[in-house]
Amino acid sequence: MQKLKVDFVDVEFINEQESKPQNSESVSSSSKFLAPPSKGKFDIRKSESRAILPDYNKPIEFFISSDASSVVEHTKKVLFLEDDDIAHIDAGELHIHRARKSAGMSTTRPVQTLEMQLAEIMRGGYDHFMMKEIFEQPDSTYNTMRGRIDFKNKTVTLGGIKDYLTSIRRSRRFQMIACGTSYHSCLAVRSLFEELTEAPVSVDLASDFLDRSPPIFRDDTVIFVSQSGETADSMQCLKYCRAAGALTVGVVNSVGSSISRDTDCGVHINAGPEIGVASTKAYTSQYIALVMIALQISNHVITTAARHKEIIQGLSEIPKKIEKVLKQSEHIKEISQKYLHGRDSMLIVGRGYQFASALEGALKIKEISYIHAEGIQAGELKHGVLALVDDKLPIVAFATQDSFSPKVNSALQQITAREGHPIIICTEGDNIIDRSKASAMIEVPQTIDCLQGLINIVPLQMMGYYLSISAGNNPDRPRNLAKSVTVE
Ligand code: UD1
Ligand code: BG6
Repeated sequence: MQKLKVDFVDVEFINEQESKPQNSESVSSSSKFLAPPSKGKFDIRKSESRAILPDYNKPIEFFISSDASSVVEHTKKVLFLEDDDIAHIDAGELHIHRARKSAGMSTTRPVQTLEMQLAEIMRGGYDHFMMKEIFEQPDSTYNTMRGRIDFKNKTVTLGGIKDYLTSIRRSRRFQMIACGTSYHSCLAVRSLFEELTEAPVSVDLASDFLDRSPPIFRDDTVIFVSQSGETADSMQCLKYCRAAGALTVGVVNSVGSSISRDTDCGVHINAGPEIGVASTKAYTSQYIALVMIALQISNHVITTAARHKEIIQGLSEIPKKIEKVLKQSEHIKEISQKYLHGRDSMLIVGRGYQFASALEGALKIKEISYIHAEGIQAGELKHGVLALVDDKLPIVAFATQDSFSPKVNSALQQITAREGHPIIICTEGDNIIDRSKASAMIEVPQTIDCLQGLINIVPLQMMGYYLSISAGNNPDRPRNLAKSVTVE
């Protein structure tokens, strides 16, 4: 029989009354991963709160971990160390020593019983992985850039492609291939790629690329974008392009996945595991990874230097700006419930950099709320879609300020002239748009034109989530869909 002894070598006495509140505070601060963002503390029931614990009548096995989620499948009993604690395990006994004694220091470390299941712990206090992943975006976008962008000197170095830069720069054209959300991230950066590389850029859905089997040449660079790195259609395209002798570049989240292994080189987006079927944080990280690739390819071109600096400055501010949009979650929830819940169909309108946001926003809504949503290029309204517009059809319009604003405003006028009442996503403090005929406004922080889609997509991700919840669906497991589609 082993004894579990919790020992504070430099503590003279134990005052349980005082130590309890301190301990509960220390749990919430020492385990950030477990704490829901809106609450300072989370709900753990304590089973013990004593310095010397009673004998356990079976051998004790200890697991040491930086996070309870990694051991919860082995034990529900956890003890959180505090700053400056030193744990020493020897012959089945645990001793905790203090590196230094500080005033007001708690003198007990309770062994607590986690009430959460592994899945709940991994959800970090959120009801669904999707919401957790939406809220992770300030961190995940930062992680995509971490160690790659020198914000002080405004330079980008991607270890995964730097040895291939000469070949990439010699390419006659760029071809991007992907499916679903990953395809939309390619569309989102296409014009920036064209602007910085001055080469033609094609973007194809993997399934359509396979159907066409278009000509691919040895001096093409083909970029494969995939969260999972296992999508069968994209893999087939990769085989085809390799056989044609093109240089293949992956932009992948899952390290060690098929696309990551089989491409000549590439960039891991480092967004962390994405569990929700509806892709959210992978989209914003893929977008940033592709922007960084365009910056790295063109960093020897003097004429683009000022644009580079502007974009890198813009990238440095993205996590904070996403955070600002996330703070509007209640406003976005109300709008979703009031104007979109229970409707059969809706249009999401955008142009220029926001065409991709419109397509991705529509995908988010349809895949988890099961409401038909169609992403429309605003310039195409007059070529057919206007026939649908009346005072009943819900419309979400991207109208953040950039060089396309006059054209977007004209599209808004076309909509309101037909009694449409759009929900408008606009720049904070915008005083150009006529708000009088809008159902609602969502104001978002402004950033550089080519990065604005990183901010604008967040309200649509949240709308999709709230509509899914309102309809009684599980946003993490939409019907008929899979996270990783490994069949053609
Ligand atoms: C790499 C390490 C990172 C380390 C850093 C230090 C990995 C996975 N990454 O990051 O842990 O901190 O060096 O310098 O070990 N690749 C492909 N196809 C893809 C994606 C990646 O071939 O789709 C290749 C890259 O060309 C590269 C390797 O995988 O050879 C790692 O890529 P990436 O993680 O993006 O490289 P670093 O950011 O340099
Ligand atoms: C599936 C997912 O359809 O595959 C989508 O449900 C995803 O969310 C698409 O965008 C493409 O997957 P991947 O892993 O290649 O990015």
